Amino acid sequence: MLARTALRTSLRAPARAFSSSSARQTKVAVLGAGGGIGQPLSLLLKLDPHVTELSLYDIRGAPGVAADVSHVDTDSKVKGFAADQLDAALEGVEVVVIPAGVPRKPGMTRDDLFNTNASIVRDLAAAVARVAPNAHLAIISNPVNSTVPIVAQTLAKAGVFDPRRLFGITMLDVVRSARFLSEITNADPKETTVTVVGGHSGATIVPLLSQSPFGKNITGEAYNQLIHRIQFGGDEVVKAKDGAGSATLSMAYAGARFTNALLRGLAGEKGVVIPTYVRSPLFEDQGVEYFSSNVELGPNGVEQILPLGPLSAAEEKLLAACLPDLKKNIEKGKAFVA
Ligand code: NAD
Ligand code: LMR
Repeated sequence: MLARTALRTSLRAPARAFSSSSARQTKVAVLGAGGGIGQPLSLLLKLDPHVTELSLYDIRGAPGVAADVSHVDTDSKVKGFAADQLDAALEGVEVVVIPAGVPRKPGMTRDDLFNTNASIVRDLAAAVARVAPNAHLAIISNPVNSTVPIVAQTLAKAGVFDPRRLFGITMLDVVRSARFLSEITNADPKETTVTVVGGHSGATIVPLLSQSPFGKNITGEAYNQLIHRIQFGGDEVVKAKDGAGSATLSMAYAGARFTNALLRGLAGEKGVVIPTYVRSPLFEDQGVEYFSSNVELGPNGVEQILPLGPLSAAEEKLLAACLPDLKKNIEKGKAFVA
């Protein structure tokens, strides 16, 4: 349990979407911009005052999405790139957000997406390494527990991996936790923020309800049900969409919120803290090299990985269940590139 008690604890709430505190702006690329997440995410990034230029790439449909989004009257330029224009799409970008890849259908796990999505993210990461080696990468494509190590290994192979610049977006679990907790406490979701740590699938998702003033008193069956709903919230959407995909709109919102936090950190705003899946020392002693926890973002990307803080006995159990699964997912990702 390295560093969990040694480091400073932070329960600061993640930043709200689209807040702006600096004039510095940035070129952002979305790879997979034509998809269910990519389209609304591109729209939300067009509304973000930190974005100067949006570079929208997909193997199909990105020029159309770009033409559409470009009519929104905010102060940023939008350009779309076709399948054979990946390098051009990445030219000069500082932040690359990747929602490219296939989504789940009912009955599938996120790991079932590995065979298709692993090579998609690997190839996109190789292009980023070649064209924009200093870019910050935020990965949405599932299984996030494995795709982030795949990207890291690919960048490392190209000699450009900097762990401060690679993020798995686990923000949807945070968004869901706040919403689901607000539903059972009748509080405003702004007040029911929950830190969620671990990874992004089933038992690897560990919500720290004991650290929330609204969550700490939830016990017994209500606790079990809430944890289950947060851990398997993705399944609710997959089931309701009935073969037409997984969460897209709530994910676009979560992805835009994460990207806004990253851009604010890059712009030098202090105190930007948000949960994200990064190369982490927290459980390295147990062979778990990537872990999501509250991270302070700054001009270099990751400034500080914050400790988990005190856990309840129930959370210790959730963590014990998370770590072996997460380790396997990480090893699978690393082995794919090796
Ligand atoms: P989608 O099928 O609607 O869109 C995916 C897009 O990726 C498509 O437009 C497709 O053309 C594009 N694409 C495929 N290969 C590409 C490549 N090589 N380069 C560029 N674009 C490429 O799927 P979606 O619903 O948008 O979901 C995308 C991914 O996000 C899935 O893997 C899904 O599981 C994942 N997801 C993650 C989270 C999370 O919390 N991290 C949440 C929801 C979905
Ligand atoms: C989610 O949590 O909604 C996403 O990871 C998509 C999925 O497959 O459930």
